Amino acid sequence: MKVLILAAGLGKRMRSKYPKVIHKLSGKELVNWVVDTAGKLSNDVAVVLGHKADLVRKVIPSWVKVFIQKEQLGTAHAVMSARDFIDPNEDLLVLYGDVPLISEKTLKEMIKIHNGNGADSTVLTAFVDDPSGYGRIIRDSSGDFLKIVEDKDLDDDQRAINEINSGIYVFKGGKLLEVLPKIKNDNAQGEYYLTDAVSMMDIVSTYTTADSIEIMGVNTRKHLAMLEGYVRKRVIDKLLDSGVTIVDPDTTYIHSTVEIGRDTIIHPMTFIEGYTVIGEDCEIGPMTRIVDSEVENNSRVVRSEVYMAFIGEGVSVGPYSRLREGSVLKKGVRVGNFVEVKKSTLEENVAAQHLTYIGDAHVEESTNIGAGTITCNYDGFKKSPTFIGKNVFIGSDTELVAPVRVEDDALIGAGSVITRDVPKGSLALGRAKQVIKEGWVYEKRRKKK
Ligand code: UD1
Ligand code: CA
Repeated sequence: MKVLILAAGLGKRMRSKYPKVIHKLSGKELVNWVVDTAGKLSNDVAVVLGHKADLVRKVIPSWVKVFIQKEQLGTAHAVMSARDFIDPNEDLLVLYGDVPLISEKTLKEMIKIHNGNGADSTVLTAFVDDPSGYGRIIRDSSGDFLKIVEDKDLDDDQRAINEINSGIYVFKGGKLLEVLPKIKNDNAQGEYYLTDAVSMMDIVSTYTTADSIEIMGVNTRKHLAMLEGYVRKRVIDKLLDSGVTIVDPDTTYIHSTVEIGRDTIIHPMTFIEGYTVIGEDCEIGPMTRIVDSEVENNSRVVRSEVYMAFIGEGVSVGPYSRLREGSVLKKGVRVGNFVEVKKSTLEENVAAQHLTYIGDAHVEESTNIGAGTITCNYDGFKKSPTFIGKNVFIGSDTELVAPVRVEDDALIGAGSVITRDVPKGSLALGRAKQVIKEGWVYEKRRKKK
């Protein structure tokens, strides 16, 4: 079986500069929800793109074939644009790029019915409370499928029907190729309807799903927000069932793309997004946001912001830390309050506990970085690297003017501005000598009087 995903439509009602199907639902583009599900059923998957096709192509995986529909003249026309993809001897499953939650299970049931009935086409339908906007399934008096009528083409009797067309079908490839050229656009919207292809088949079967969320299409931002809320609950339920503690599900936001290990505790007001993986026995939050990062077992991240970073085993981050892109914190590292790390590696057991900026740096194991240390990595023109060796002690309020190297076992006196490399095992002081003038204050006061 092949799978064709229609995603050329404009998505006008989103009122967006971007194509509808690249808007994200729970961390993943709408079209990629469908691509991932399609990929579980077949390794021959194609999408039909049109409106700003390049932007969509960028986000879909490279194994998916792409066909272009230059003008959006209707769903049948979209399938026609991928004519070369259709094999007369194979079934074709048609999905929509804006119906993200359709499940592998439902599709498999539908395909089973299709094969069992030897149908030319099988339609996925559902009963909904409010069928307005959808195509309706018209049946004869004995309940057999007759045709699909689009909302805009309904007569008054048909309007009351609440069995709707999900827009998801399986076709025998040969039969579809036969009827596609015969479809006309003499309807209310002047479009080539794929629904007419179904109506033109000899043997049509239907499969009705009880889960109407699965077939919900995203047409507006309100729909998107609604599905986001729905998926959020589903993700949290699944994590709770798998052995993750979520103290307050109402204030916890976790994307469907996130993995979390057993006995990890997620505290309130926490956001875990994108392709983030968190290990076992961690404590995350409260008030933490982690995006596209990895956190290994037994680590803590409290009231912090973590973006595209790696946090090794037994690491402690926060409160109030910010880890930016390319931060690598190896086993046992401790990064404390008001510490920012960017594109830097902190090897095992490095500590930077207070008020520090570490950027474009490599810090070897067991080094202690004192309060208020700053790597001055930017001179106004370019970024330069800082290297700090093993077992180094950087005194408080040190500025390391990059490029600079501090070798193993060195000690830097508090308040130093380090502009030259510091050799192994040496003491470096880069500050003005202290001056004492005894009694100076009293002398001054006397004179003032
Ligand atoms: C379609 C069905 C309707 C069904 C509904 C379910 C038709 C004629 N109608 O209506 O019976 O109840 O879906 O959601 O098929 N697309 C293209 N090229 C086009 C037109 C559309 O690729 O020229 C794509 C869109 O990007 C979208 C999908 O096809 O992913 C559905 O198109 P849309 O215009 O939303 O169809 P509906 O009017 O919702
Ligand atoms: Ca639609």
